[in-house]
Amino acid sequence: MDLSQQEKDLIRQSYAKVAAIKDQAGQLFYQRLFELEPSLREMFHRAPIETQAMKLMQVIEWVVERLDDVKSLRDELDKLGKIHADYGVKVDHYPIVGSALVWTLKKGLGSDFSPEAEEAWIELYTYLSGQMER
Ligand code: HEM
Repeated sequence: MDLSQQEKDLIRQSYAKVAAIKDQAGQLFYQRLFELEPSLREMFHRAPIETQAMKLMQVIEWVVERLDDVKSLRDELDKLGKIHADYGVKVDHYPIVGSALVWTLKKGLGSDFSPEAEEAWIELYTYLSGQMER
């Protein structure tokens, strides 16, 4: 994946805004995810949704902080992919999570979330999930 400087800036800017409404964004994300695919609810039984939401925001932050060196994420993403396969996550689930994520950014940021920012997030998510699915 080769994000342009402009795409990285857009991702960082939109992340900074969503970080300010972290709790709300996390809640929105899971609501949307379970609306899109109710059967996924069973997979997230280990911890309350607030804890999951926090984790989600931490991962996004972890990725956003490493945008200049996305390749350094590769080993971690490999590991994460294996952990996810053990959770029962299937290849088909990745686009659903991606769609819930982009929806959350749109909903949380409103007109601050430009079509260009959306494109950049999709590119980033596609890369991450591609690494994890292998
Ligand atoms: C780019 C995509 C994704 C990233 C970066 C990601 C990242 C993470 C991370 C860092 C954790 C915490 C792992 C731990 O606590 O050891 C996690 C947990 C989890 N993820 Fe993902 N994930 C992604 C996609 C998905 C997808 C597509 C699903 C399927 C619905 C999924 C389902 C889960 C579940 C069920 C857990 C365990 C929650 C728990 O009970 O603690 N993830 N994810």
